[in-house]
Amino acid sequence: MIIANWKMNGSKELIKDWMDFVSQNIEINQEKECILCPPTCYLYFTGTLIKQSYEGIKLGSQHCDSVLSAPLTGGTNSQMLEDAGCEFVIIGHSEQRVHLKESNQILSDKLKSSIGMNLKPIFCIGETLRQKEANQTNDILIQQLDAIPSNLLQKCIIAYEPVWAIGTGENAEISYIEEIHSFIKEELKNKSNSTNYISVVYGGSVNLENCKEIYSSDKVDGLLIGGASLDSNTFTKIFNIS
Ligand code: PGA
Repeated sequence: MIIANWKMNGSKELIKDWMDFVSQNIEINQEKECILCPPTCYLYFTGTLIKQSYEGIKLGSQHCDSVLSAPLTGGTNSQMLEDAGCEFVIIGHSEQRVHLKESNQILSDKLKSSIGMNLKPIFCIGETLRQKEANQTNDILIQQLDAIPSNLLQKCIIAYEPVWAIGTGENAEISYIEEIHSFIKEELKNKSNSTNYISVVYGGSVNLENCKEIYSSDKVDGLLIGGASLDSNTFTKIFNIS
């Protein structure tokens, strides 16, 4: 799966143009899903367009609140996301972990709430540069994975996004990605006590130059792309060569 995380970018016009171009030029394949995550305010608009004309593209949200009902100004719950046509939701992105001070308890509640509405969470984990340099990567990843109730693991997609690689232009080396993905996959196997497959995708400065090498690894089940997903032409090329 190739996931476009638009962060706080875009407009109705850009979304429409992007979907026109991408849907006409990507080679859709059951195995490789194309997921667009626009800002929350454009979800309903995007979901409606997908239903009308772009069924090859799937809709994901960048945000979901942890409860269905609360007097929460600015809140968006999983029921609203489902109503807008979302099938996926990004949870635990490092930018939100910092900005919203999300604890494992909050993340766990978000996972339960979104899975309860049949949304598929894309659960992000990853270490900071300081943690990497202190050899704490594995401990941090274990701690972050602990937010997922073990009975819900099979319903999640895990996104490994080293914080130091996000938006920096410095993607992790393929050998490092493979080492960490193997570690995550082993942890997931132990934690879920099952051999069912859980996808682990990579994110962090994925671009046209590095996408093929990363995606072609058998340890990598997809890509979560920020900056390079905004341009429809670049995204289409990444999708098709990956
Ligand atoms: P980037 O962002 O591709 O711009 O590094 C990835 C992400 O934050 O999901």
